[in-house]
Amino acid sequence: TPRVFSGVKPSGGLQLGNYLGAIKRFVDMQGQDYEAIFCVVDLHAITVWQDPKELKDATREVTAGYLASGIDPAQSVLFNQSQVPAHAELAWLFNCVARVGWMNRMTQFKDKAGKNAEKVSLGLYAYPALMAADILLYHATHVPVGEDQKQHVELTRDIAAKFNHDYGAEGFFPLPEPIIEGPATRVMNLRDGSKKMSKSGESDMERINMTDDADTIAKKFKKARTDPEPLPDTLEGLKGRPEARNLVDIYAGLSETTPEAVITEFAGAGWGTFKPALADLAVAKLGPISEEMARLMNDKAEIDRVLAQGAERAEAIAQPILDQTYDIMGFLRSR
Ligand code: TYM
Repeated sequence: TPRVFSGVKPSGGLQLGNYLGAIKRFVDMQGQDYEAIFCVVDLHAITVWQDPKELKDATREVTAGYLASGIDPAQSVLFNQSQVPAHAELAWLFNCVARVGWMNRMTQFKDKAGKNAEKVSLGLYAYPALMAADILLYHATHVPVGEDQKQHVELTRDIAAKFNHDYGAEGFFPLPEPIIEGPATRVMNLRDGSKKMSKSGESDMERINMTDDADTIAKKFKKARTDPEPLPDTLEGLKGRPEARNLVDIYAGLSETTPEAVITEFAGAGWGTFKPALADLAVAKLGPISEEMARLMNDKAEIDRVLAQGAERAEAIAQPILDQTYDIMGFLRSR
C-alpha cells in the first residue's frame, strides 16, 4: 500500500493555510487506501528561535489541531519528530548526500534568510535534508503539502535518487510524489494578495488563526483587502485580482467545492454580500475545531500519551530502515 508522510512545524499557532493546504487534506486522505504518518516537526521549528518555555505547548497545540480536525491516532501514526531520534540521524547521513548547490537553489531559504544569510542558523540552511529524512525514513511514497513545500519534496527525490545511485542501492529509497491538491494549496495574506498567509507575518489581521473566535474571524474577513469590483460570473474574471481570487479559494476550500462553483453561486455579488457569507462559513467550519482544540489542551497528559504511543509506532517503522541505510553505507555496527 502507498504510504503518506507529512508534517507541520510547531512554531507559533496554526493558521488557515496550514488547515486548508495541509491538515484538512490529510484528513481527506485518511479514509483512502493509504498508510498515513503525520508528524509535529519540532526539530524543524528550532531552525528559527523557539522559546524553550513555549515549545512543549506549541507541540501540543499542533497535535490538538490534528486531532480536532479529524486525524484518528488509531488509524494514522501521529507523533512529534524529536521523540524518534532516527530523524536526526538520517538527516546527518543526507547532509553528506545532498550538494551545497542544491541547497543554494531553495527559494524558501532565500526568502527566510533575506539579506541576513550570514546570521541565520546552519539548521535553516540544512532544513531540506532533514525534511527528506522525515519522508524517506518511512519509505513514504506520497507527501501531501501546500504549494510552498513543492521544491522541498523535489529535493527529497533528488536525495533519494543520488543515494540509490551512489551506493548501488537501486530502488531502496522510493522517489516520493508531492500531492498538492484542492482549491487552497496557497492561501494568501488577507492584507496583501501577493504574499502567502503565514504564522510569522507582522500583523495578526493578515491571517486567520485556528484559535480565533467568531468575532475575530468576522472582523478579519470584513477588513480583508479587496478591489472595488463585484465578483465576476466566470473564473476568468478573477485574473489579475489576487485578493478576490484568494477569498474565493478560501470559500471553496472551506465548503469543499471548486472555485468555479463558488463563482456560479455568487456571480455579480458585491463584497458586502460575499464577505459576511465567507465569515459565517468560516465560523461554522472552524468554530467546532477550535473548541475541540481548547478542550484537548485542557488534558495535556492525554496529548502527551497520544504522542508517546505514536512515536513508538513510528520508530518501529523507521528504525529498520535507518539500520539498513547504515548497512548500505558500510558503517561498522557491532551491537
Ligand atoms: P509548515 O509548518 O510551514 O506548514 C505545514 C503545512 O501547511 C502548508 N501551508 C500552507 N498551505 C497553503 N497555504 C498557505 N498559506 C500555507 N502555509 C502553510 C505547508 O505547505 C505545509 O504542508 N517543511 C514543512 C514541514 C515539514 C514537512 C516534512 C512536510 C517537515 N518535514 C515532511 C512534509 C513532509 C513546513 O515548514 O511546513
